[in-house]
Amino acid sequence: MSRRTPLVAGNWKMNLDHVEAAGFVQRLSWLLHDARYDYDSSAEIAIMPPYTSIRSVQVLLQAERMRVKVGAQNVSAISGGAFTGDISARMLQRLGCSYVIVGHSERRKYHPEDDVDLVDKVRAVLAAGMQPILCVGESLSERSQGIELEYAVGQVSDVTRDLSDAEASRLLIAYEPVWAIGGGMSATPKTAQNAAAAIRQHFRDRYGEAVAGVVRILYGGSVNSNNAESLMQGADVDGFLIGGAALKPDEFAKIAGIVTLAAVARDGR
Ligand code: 13P
Repeated sequence: MSRRTPLVAGNWKMNLDHVEAAGFVQRLSWLLHDARYDYDSSAEIAIMPPYTSIRSVQVLLQAERMRVKVGAQNVSAISGGAFTGDISARMLQRLGCSYVIVGHSERRKYHPEDDVDLVDKVRAVLAAGMQPILCVGESLSERSQGIELEYAVGQVSDVTRDLSDAEASRLLIAYEPVWAIGGGMSATPKTAQNAAAAIRQHFRDRYGEAVAGVVRILYGGSVNSNNAESLMQGADVDGFLIGGAALKPDEFAKIAGIVTLAAVARDGR
């Protein structure tokens, strides 16, 4: 049995208001039901809607008895108080969120968040009993210098180095090379696997095999139903963080099916 359950996570970004979100979940429910999707199989599905759609998504998932998890795209590092516009980890946990994306490249770019902020956010998510999905990945500039692996591993190390073994075991890392996001140009399966392997090796060096063996490492960047199967061939790739394709229920359900089959094949190894 693989010790890591693959995750198919949809990051909706700033798309789908609460009414559109309800339509999405109903269609997804029908598709998964029609495909006789086996929630007991070895893959997990999660949706990360905008804050305003989380509650509607969560209520509908429950009503439809869909074992799909919910997450958020960002969180404040602070626990509460006079911080207009911010949302705390505790609020997300109370909404039933399981995961919180931390340090997505779009947030790093448009809302400069330094490593200190990200360290605090990861800690806040863990303290609230949820799991952070820390996003890392190089831009074309680092790639052209041939330092992409050092760069991505450095981002992981900068944010996670002071965590305890127990905390580190609950992390998920999403390797999302900036050049692959949104443009339709996915990383090759080899590139995704090399990065995931380098990140896992970092955890092995820092925390040992027990932690390195359970940290889930996702790939993100132009994942779709055509490239999902080959990207899942990487032994260190434990699923996907999906943007554009996660806004289309048919495509998202297809990818979930592909990852489930890959997970079953892995378990059989
Ligand atoms: P795309 O799948 O649209 O490339 O987005 C990836 C992403 O940023 C997920 O967090």
